[in-house]
Amino acid sequence: MVGRTLVRGGLVITAADEIHADVLVEDGRIAALAAHGSPGADSWAESADRILDATGKYVIPGGVDAHTHLDFPFGGTFSSDNFETGTRAAAWGGTTTLIDFAVQSRGKSLRDGLDTWHAKSDARCAIDYAFHMILSDVNEHTLKELDLLVAEGVTSFKLFTAYPGVFYSDDGQILRAMQRSADNGGLVMMHAENGIAIDVLVEQALAEGKTDPRYHGEVRRVLLEAEATHRTIQLARVAGAPLYVVHVSAEEALAEIAQARDKGLNVFGETCPQYLFLSTDNLAEPDFEGAKYVCSTPLRPREHQEALWRGLRTNDLQVVSTDHCPFCFQGQKELGRGDFSKIPNGMPGVENRMDLLHQGVVEGRISRRRWIEIACATPARMFGLYPKKGTIAPGADADLVLYDPTAEQIVSAETHHMNVDYSPYEGKRLTGRVETVLSRGELVIDRREFTGHAGHGQYIPRGTCQYLI
Ligand code: URP
Ligand code: ZN
Ligand code: ZN
Repeated sequence: MVGRTLVRGGLVITAADEIHADVLVEDGRIAALAAHGSPGADSWAESADRILDATGKYVIPGGVDAHTHLDFPFGGTFSSDNFETGTRAAAWGGTTTLIDFAVQSRGKSLRDGLDTWHAKSDARCAIDYAFHMILSDVNEHTLKELDLLVAEGVTSFKLFTAYPGVFYSDDGQILRAMQRSADNGGLVMMHAENGIAIDVLVEQALAEGKTDPRYHGEVRRVLLEAEATHRTIQLARVAGAPLYVVHVSAEEALAEIAQARDKGLNVFGETCPQYLFLSTDNLAEPDFEGAKYVCSTPLRPREHQEALWRGLRTNDLQVVSTDHCPFCFQGQKELGRGDFSKIPNGMPGVENRMDLLHQGVVEGRISRRRWIEIACATPARMFGLYPKKGTIAPGADADLVLYDPTAEQIVSAETHHMNVDYSPYEGKRLTGRVETVLSRGELVIDRREFTGHAGHGQYIPRGTCQYLI
């Protein structure tokens, strides 16, 4: 264990500031910042055990990815990254905290689901992690358990208006869960698509012989995302509860969130890199290649991307997470050859998020500080982790990324570290790359070499959402 580390000569970027400063790390935490070249900073250099030269680099907080599915059961298989491979890949991509979804199985308790996810993750993670809870079976017993979960640091619950028979909850169940969270301080996260109507359209499409991956996008209509978003916002209003809508992909759904926010409601929205960079053109790729892009909510026509970037600029969307849920093309996505509804839903991305969003900076879509806000600070605040995570300030965990803003890279499955046999961004040129990563002061990536280890990552019980008054 190195005592004092000095990160020297970089441009420190947080959601609030950009300053040329040296950062002193002691015992895994940020001890102090001082202007580069100031007498204070120079005296630290004399006593530091280790100096990391950040000249020409950005020094940013480690990314906080608030939406991942590691070792996640779906469609008769499991997502291909487990907690060891997924957290290692996250570190490579400059993410130092992730919040994964523990799953309640139907007929079982929340406790049971949470225990299972602790067993899957314990001693396997390279970076720090926390849990949300997926509610698959809202009943008297599980509603009571929600209070206990909030008290022990699992302060957000995902509900689904999609996937009837699997994760689906009806409006009554959703309302009850929202009422309970209005009382206990929890935050309901909503997968908003009208799954009952979608299942009708799936059945009709298959009956007409429309079996290719592109029909996944066609049946999961924009209007059915917008409708479910509208409906669940109204349910949240009735319950007096806050609402966080996950993986928003459609302009019309975003408009529902924007309208609610204009009314002053505690409604929040998350989008993901796949909706900012990919489209239905990818779902229509021939030879079943479109299966690589099957996720829900689905990719949308290109025009929606502009609306989502705008939403990020105007703060109608607050967070970009990955919804990392990888399935290999061979053996997993292939389960849906001849029937798009059997393609496991989900895409990889935990390693690419910080770079793809930085590309938004390079292309002039968002500012550098907004990049850090949507990828680090706001997810930390939204889910009760700030200022331990998401910023660079005295007392915060020393989760730091030395980021080279000028390095050029080409994304490829050949070179990525996620345990999946394809990249949805194959061949994409990006400017900017993670060079070095510290997690609580420990080097986990050192000049493009993995130096971390499974078991370094700690489970973090979370506080409640920090945006609620
Ligand atoms: O396609 C997706 N998003 N798979 C993961 C499960 C979910 O709904 O987030
Ligand atoms: Zn979802
Ligand atoms: Zn998800």
